[in-house]
Amino acid sequence: MAPMVQRVALIGFGAVGRAFARLLLRKDAEIQQRHGLAIRVTGIITARRGAAWDPEGLDLAAALRAVEEGGGLSPLSRSPAPAETIAFIERCPADVVVEITVLDPRTGQPATDHVRAALESGRHVVTANKGPLAFAYRALRDLARSRGRAFLFESTVMDGAPLFSMVREGLPATRIQGFRAILNSTTNFILTRMEEGLSFEEAVRQAQAIGIAEADPSNDIDGWDAAVKTCVLANVWMEADLRPDQVQREGIRGIGPADLEAARRAGRRIKLVCSAERTEDGQVRARVAPEAVPLEDLLAHVRGTSSVITLRTDTLKQLTLIEHEPEPMQTAFGLLADLVNVARGHWG
Ligand SMILES: NC(=O)c1ccc[n+]([C@@H]2O[C@H](COP(=O)([O-])OP(=O)(O)OC[C@H]3O[C@@H](n4cnc5c(N)ncnc54)[C@H](OP(=O)(O)O)[C@@H]3O)[C@@H](O)[C@H]2O)c1
Repeated sequence: MAPMVQRVALIGFGAVGRAFARLLLRKDAEIQQRHGLAIRVTGIITARRGAAWDPEGLDLAAALRAVEEGGGLSPLSRSPAPAETIAFIERCPADVVVEITVLDPRTGQPATDHVRAALESGRHVVTANKGPLAFAYRALRDLARSRGRAFLFESTVMDGAPLFSMVREGLPATRIQGFRAILNSTTNFILTRMEEGLSFEEAVRQAQAIGIAEADPSNDIDGWDAAVKTCVLANVWMEADLRPDQVQREGIRGIGPADLEAARRAGRRIKLVCSAERTEDGQVRARVAPEAVPLEDLLAHVRGTSSVITLRTDTLKQLTLIEHEPEPMQTAFGLLADLVNVARGHWG
């Protein structure tokens, strides 16, 4: 039987978009065989490298070559594609729009507008971008429901680890009462290196050298990235309607060797812990702060760029998921898993 064709438009073709293209090239035959699904990228738009579309499917290897050689995408286009992103989303020949532009942790834009435009024009949406979930989750979820379209976002937190699908599919009739997690790779890497004897500044430089910290690492160090992720989880799982600036937030800037040594002597490790819990008045309190975590707690043992979450539920008690040393390929896998789940209707 001919496979079902799913036409996909990529909004952004950076590290994650290109890792997704490589993963799709590697997994295409397997997805067709195991899931009866042919995923075809029919559109790509970027900020500075142009746009291309082809209802029959773009040549992904050629798109990768063009961008990696510093060229543009427009020569691959079957007909001229709009250069403006919203117009591209509204008109692209795609069933699913994949939003993978840069995150603006202060506003969630322009990604939120991209997701809204895609849903309003009748597309399913898959995204790795936390912005729309941290700033407009309820509105976008309700819009997707009213249009009968999927809105999936596995890669927004813990990359490709099946966090949201585990809760959606594997925890029916369950209330998430709270969670404790380490969700920011850069700060966990810095704290791990400081425990091994590096100064804060040396550890930051090492994080920058291996490409996990930005030239300006303040989004990570001051806890903004962790606050955005905490906000996403609280909004999606706990019916909160928080914005990142409503998450109580303290970063790791004030942590020095003396703090780490004092924690070590007390049988603890300092971690940047993200947490959320329901208060007695039914509100959700979310927090990001360094904590001296006892060694009996699994969170104390998750080192380097790895991440971890322990969910507290009213059915399975506690459930912990650890992701080991993620790279863009893991994020790309989250997108791929979401696309397969859209095709098989596993999104309600
Ligand atoms: N990197 C990871 O491992 C990771 C993990 C989890 C989640 N994420 C999330 O995934 C998303 C993508 O990350 P990334 O690492 O791929 O970022 P990136 O390398 O900076 O790529 C971003 C892409 O978006 C394009 N873009 C920016 N503004 C646009 C606009 N208005 N219209 C169309 N295209 C636009 C850029 O165009 P140009 O190519 O022209 O600059 C670029 O292709 C982000 O939201 C990030 O937070 C990333």
